[in-house]
Amino acid sequence: MESMEIAMTTSVLFVCLGNICRSPLAEGAMRRLVEIEAAAIRIDSAGTGDWHIGRAPDPRAQAEALRQGLDISMLRARQVTTEDFHRFDHIVAMDAQNLADLLAMRPEGAQARLSRLLDHVGGGDVPDPYYGGDDGFAETFRLVESGARALLQAISGQRATTL
Ligand code: 4NP
Repeated sequence: MESMEIAMTTSVLFVCLGNICRSPLAEGAMRRLVEIEAAAIRIDSAGTGDWHIGRAPDPRAQAEALRQGLDISMLRARQVTTEDFHRFDHIVAMDAQNLADLLAMRPEGAQARLSRLLDHVGGGDVPDPYYGGDDGFAETFRLVESGARALLQAISGQRATTL
């Protein structure tokens, strides 16, 4: 019963640079895992940059998601705000630069716990696939799904790797 109460109140924001490649894939992967686990976790994604605000995920990310049986076409990019640090329990960065940018903008008294996604599976960055070829997105999905799986376990057990 206690773990159910914890799950009911948990929220996760995935953050990358543009919010059109990595974090929408992480959001999609996490949504499916949460459905499978029947966990009640609020999930969203955002970017530290503002170039792609309002846009759907990169077509290569959408295509990779579809290959994985996921439709992420309805997602729209937005930029991280200081409010997000009060609205989410976990803010999960894709790489070290995203994490540094988040730490730099973290407001006083923020409740959100910050981590890098792959810290939940031993560390490392989810490399930016934007300037690479289509095949980079398969690797991106593999990484974000493994990180999301570990993150969900950590949240369920309240053992998240946080700063
Ligand atoms: P994302 O990828 O951070 O995984 O969404 C990028 C998307 C756009 C740019 C960089 C990275 N950009 O420079 O426009």
